Amino acid sequence: MKTQVGIIGAGPAGLFLSHLLHLHGIASVVLEHRDYDYALGRVRAGMLDNDVCALIRATGIGANLDRYGLEQHQMEFRFDGRQAFINWYELIGRRTWIYGQQQLVQDLVERREQDGGKIYWEAEAIGINGLESDNPSIRYRHNGEECDLDCEIVAGCDGFLGVSRGSIPDDRKNEYLRTYPFGWLGTMADVEPSSPWLVTASHDNGYAMHSMRSRYSDRDHEISRNYVQCSLDETVEDWPDNRVWDELNVRLGSGHGWELKEGPIIEKMVLPLRSFVCEPMQYRRLFLAGDSAHLVPPTGGRGLNQAIYDVALLADGIKAFLDRNSRAALDGYSSTCLRRVWQAQYFSWRQTNMLQRHDYTDDYHRRLQINELAYMTTNRASAVHLAENYAGAPMSSSFLGNKVLDYPTI
Ligand code: PHB
Repeated sequence: MKTQVGIIGAGPAGLFLSHLLHLHGIASVVLEHRDYDYALGRVRAGMLDNDVCALIRATGIGANLDRYGLEQHQMEFRFDGRQAFINWYELIGRRTWIYGQQQLVQDLVERREQDGGKIYWEAEAIGINGLESDNPSIRYRHNGEECDLDCEIVAGCDGFLGVSRGSIPDDRKNEYLRTYPFGWLGTMADVEPSSPWLVTASHDNGYAMHSMRSRYSDRDHEISRNYVQCSLDETVEDWPDNRVWDELNVRLGSGHGWELKEGPIIEKMVLPLRSFVCEPMQYRRLFLAGDSAHLVPPTGGRGLNQAIYDVALLADGIKAFLDRNSRAALDGYSSTCLRRVWQAQYFSWRQTNMLQRHDYTDDYHRRLQINELAYMTTNRASAVHLAENYAGAPMSSSFLGNKVLDYPTI
């Protein structure tokens, strides 16, 4: 098989890239080793940045986002018996939306199918060949047979555990990894959200967050997505439903004019918290995007958004290269991405450091956390810092008609 761009992975990065390339008139094939039901069943991120939503709308896939997405202007912080808000819409005029990753994946697959896109499910990429030449190919296994996908460009959108990153020779990359000594127990409960905005709590017992998921259709209803910080050696068996609700109530501070709505827990999993960056994010004609190149802990809501920023830039770079043989954008892909990626790393690390309990005996650190939260929620410059990072950077994409790469500098 032959195409212009071979894309490994049908997560949001790979599917979005394939969609953008199609709009640019460029052919691609997506190889995904799981099946469609698995891709749709993966419970993942749910918060989309201002400009990610703008890109979704500008490229004609925003109907369900407009209908079901939950527009967010602010977040509530609870700590030390206090309650405070940061409103990013008031501070910087940018909005976010709650819209589940699974819904975005479904919208993208449906649109790719309407547009005649080629997505091969249960097609496992096993290696990338010819990377030293101008004619790379992806070796993959499909229906028990090994085949090659010949292409001009390879996009590695296959997540942290995929084969793409491993195809960059060890002496041509540096990897930076941080693992945190705690995790999040994430739950989905079939009960309407208790608050129209996200509530985040830094409690002496540990972190908790009350979030939500939007409806999938007119027949559905919105549901609650709750998190509690847990220890890494704990499993879902250590967290029976009553313990989950008890801890959420304590940490979120129910009973002071606010009640957490409880309902059947329909999903429960322990998420490890990790930070990771691979530098550079490209090697010859292979370009990494999304989790294959970088991971963040979920605290800052950055992971999914970063993946979309990557592919927006990559699609434009591939267009310039394949149409006009202009290499500049593709050559600069990694360094342009990495400036934003490291800022997202810093922000996610800072949020994690500020909100989670790291060492339950370290009262000094706990006082620093309370101070930082108090400062952030009362000092304008500090609140703007959160707003700019949480609602996301201005996106560079030809589909948004702009070429802004970073925040205005001083
Ligand atoms: C979520 O809804 O899953 C979510 C939202 C915002 C975050 C983290 C998680 O910062």
